[in-house]
Amino acid sequence: MSMTVIHSIAFLFLTAVSCEVSNYSFPENFQFGVATASYQIEGGWNEGGRSESIWDYNLHQNPNLTDDKSNGDIACDSYHKWKEDIEIVKNLGVDFYRLSISWSRILPSALKGSELSTEGVIYYNNIIDELIANNIVPYVTIFHWDTPQVLEFKGGWLNETVIEDYIYYARILFELYGDRVKHWITFNEPHQICEQGYATAEKAPFKTLQGTGDYLCYHHVAIAHGKIYRIYEEEYKPTQKGQVGITIDCVFGAPKTDTEEDKQAAIDYMEFQYGWFAHPILSGNYPPLMIEKIGELSRREGFPKSRLPEFTQDEIKIINGSFDFLGLNHYTTVLCSYGGNYPVPSHRNDLGTIDSIDPSWKPSAADWLWEVPWGLRGLLVYIKDHYNNPPVLITENGWANRGRYIHDVDRINYMKGYLSEVLKAIYDDGCNVIGYTAWSLLDNFEWTYGYTMKFGLVYVDFESENRTRTPRDSYEIYKKIVATKSLQIY
Ligand code: NOJ
Repeated sequence: MSMTVIHSIAFLFLTAVSCEVSNYSFPENFQFGVATASYQIEGGWNEGGRSESIWDYNLHQNPNLTDDKSNGDIACDSYHKWKEDIEIVKNLGVDFYRLSISWSRILPSALKGSELSTEGVIYYNNIIDELIANNIVPYVTIFHWDTPQVLEFKGGWLNETVIEDYIYYARILFELYGDRVKHWITFNEPHQICEQGYATAEKAPFKTLQGTGDYLCYHHVAIAHGKIYRIYEEEYKPTQKGQVGITIDCVFGAPKTDTEEDKQAAIDYMEFQYGWFAHPILSGNYPPLMIEKIGELSRREGFPKSRLPEFTQDEIKIINGSFDFLGLNHYTTVLCSYGGNYPVPSHRNDLGTIDSIDPSWKPSAADWLWEVPWGLRGLLVYIKDHYNNPPVLITENGWANRGRYIHDVDRINYMKGYLSEVLKAIYDDGCNVIGYTAWSLLDNFEWTYGYTMKFGLVYVDFESENRTRTPRDSYEIYKKIVATKSLQIY
């Protein structure tokens, strides 16, 4: 038997071992895409005048911060191989490609008033032109965790002057690329920027200001988001006619048991883990529960005022309703009950719940990711019910494994399971879901996991100088889903 035949049989067998999938088809105007982020794929860390981001800086100083002592110096080498990447996106047949722009590549000195890097500008110009020439719509994330280190030296997202620096940078992107880019995402996952970056030290800049730095960080992110949304609305939208949204991530919280107590714990969890970020943008302020609880705990801890900052009336006006679509990154679910032993003060202590999982859930290679497809439907319904059914674009969803693993049946099952729940949310629950983005196009630098954790539809050989790309089975399956707008693809 030839290798091709063996491969085809294995492929059929593996893809046939899958969960029950929905019979519905995706609506005609439903958009499919695939995503990456600058620091995770580009490499070329010091080329074309680029300066260090907080990731470059911290990992150059201390390689032990990642599991494999790696960094993003070369990553997938997309700084040089961007054309090949776009070819892979094109062959996948998706409607859009979600990429992010590296602030320190465009503005090496980062701060308001600083000079553009011509090479940086050309790099993204070429990518955007090539995408459009290939009929792929660019969705651009303005900020995906790679704060320029220059900016971090003056406090990063804890210093309110960052708002003006961000506005300066984002405006430049609108000026440079807004004639062609019509979908902008202001921030990727503020929860992780602020909680993991400034409180639990799981991500750069690895700060440990629990229960204070995290709240201050998001306060500035929310104001920066609202202001740039209004600037776009007033100054650019009339001519450029694009849309601006934000990507908020959420692990869905379900009650651990049927008791009233656990049900309430799950409600609290959602307010603190999703409402913290979504409520200001969709309803004008932090969730009342957070304002009340953090205010009370802060007083008891001896703070003169709440650790949760207050928005002014003007800020509320700016932030409230500042979205054309709501980006959602979702991967997994937890079960909630009250309890837990957390540092005081800390966000988790303010929330006061403990997470657990159902042992029957399938674990991925990442210690935070279990396959729980119904959680995505639960979350979509939550958003619909709490926030007046806004247009939701799923900007990330994906599965982690280790190794080469070309026949990635687990990723295929995960994707089909989650997409089935999206269909049910659309047709059975009336949720306004406008699109889905697979994370990720390529295996890439998975933050502190380095290159040990693989999310790619395409395997990347990080041992080869060429960073050879090999599509996995999930790439072929996703391609069929996209082409048929259906999960019934055999
Ligand atoms: C969220 C982040 O946006 C992305 O950078 C990361 O790689 C994936 N989730 C997987 O952890």
